[in-house]
Amino acid sequence: MEPGRRKGYNGGMAETSGADAGSSKLMEHGRALQLAFSDRLSRRNGYVEVPTALFVPKVDVRMPPLPSVAFYVWAGAGVRKIRDADQPYSPLALSAHGMVLVSEADIEGIRKFAERQILSAGEGGLSRESRMETLRRAAIEVVDGLFQAPTPENIKKSTKVVSSFVYVLMKEPEAYLVLAKLSSHDPYTLQHSVGTAVNGIILARKAGISDEGELNEVGMAGLLHDIGKTQVRREIINKEGPLNAAEWEEMKQHAQWGYDLVRGNPALSERCQKAVLEHHEDRIGKGYPGGLLSGDLHVFSRIVALADAFNALTTDRTYSKARNPFEAFQFINDKLNHKVDPELFRSLVLVYGGKMPAGTTG
Ligand SMILES: [Fe+2]
Ligand SMILES: [Fe+2]
Repeated sequence: MEPGRRKGYNGGMAETSGADAGSSKLMEHGRALQLAFSDRLSRRNGYVEVPTALFVPKVDVRMPPLPSVAFYVWAGAGVRKIRDADQPYSPLALSAHGMVLVSEADIEGIRKFAERQILSAGEGGLSRESRMETLRRAAIEVVDGLFQAPTPENIKKSTKVVSSFVYVLMKEPEAYLVLAKLSSHDPYTLQHSVGTAVNGIILARKAGISDEGELNEVGMAGLLHDIGKTQVRREIINKEGPLNAAEWEEMKQHAQWGYDLVRGNPALSERCQKAVLEHHEDRIGKGYPGGLLSGDLHVFSRIVALADAFNALTTDRTYSKARNPFEAFQFINDKLNHKVDPELFRSLVLVYGGKMPAGTTG
């Protein structure tokens, strides 16, 4: 296992906390964007530390207008104002500080500023690849918080990230392949959750769901589908070899335990909550926890089930190498046919511009 990857989901915070506001070392722009967008910033005495790199444009990149927000720096026991809310600013002067402070009340404006940089397609902005990569990393950052503490507030926070994915995928269909490719890039649960959300949204669109609210629901279900794994003992989650019967029984509880975590949450629709519960059900009643038949399953549950399987197959895991999408389609067709909805499966194959695998049934 590589250090710092799976162990402890606290990668994001350490880099910003305790940052010296007077330091002139600028953070990398993409990293600053990601932290601001996912709102993983340090807070102290009613102020939030924002990396200055967020406001300093990269060469040849046009920035959205700066939000009307006053900037401060730490000074002795208090703070000193270095910019009035509507004052023009010089990126050069600003970059003398590694971090600036904004008041807690202004942080939403800063988050929106970061969001605009990530979501605005077109000339003069960041490239699609770097915007999509930043969005994906920001999502992982948010899911990181979610897996550390699956609280209603953290669930609510992650709805913003999901709606950004939906927004991008509605506005820029060309982003499908970029995001689909990125979503299988890394092996672990956090990345898997983000990948399943992205695949779920793409799949839902391809299957004819075009309502933004519904796409958001699917994305949230994808993001949260394995949240119950936070309740499974760590030694089981991290076990390298195959699980024994008792361990497997505990692992299978994650569907029910996940549902227990999201049930009744007002930020999530009932069918989104149900999709968390039902993502391991199948077409023939052999799935868990309910042994339901696919006729009893909401289409969101079936979408998440397929997006989950596909993302798992196309991702490196401890016990199997990532397959390419076409190998994954063949595998699903040969081995998981009883698990997936045939119509949705066809839609997924189409996303990749592929043909149905040989010997297709169902
Ligand atoms: Fe699962
Ligand atoms: Fe999963």
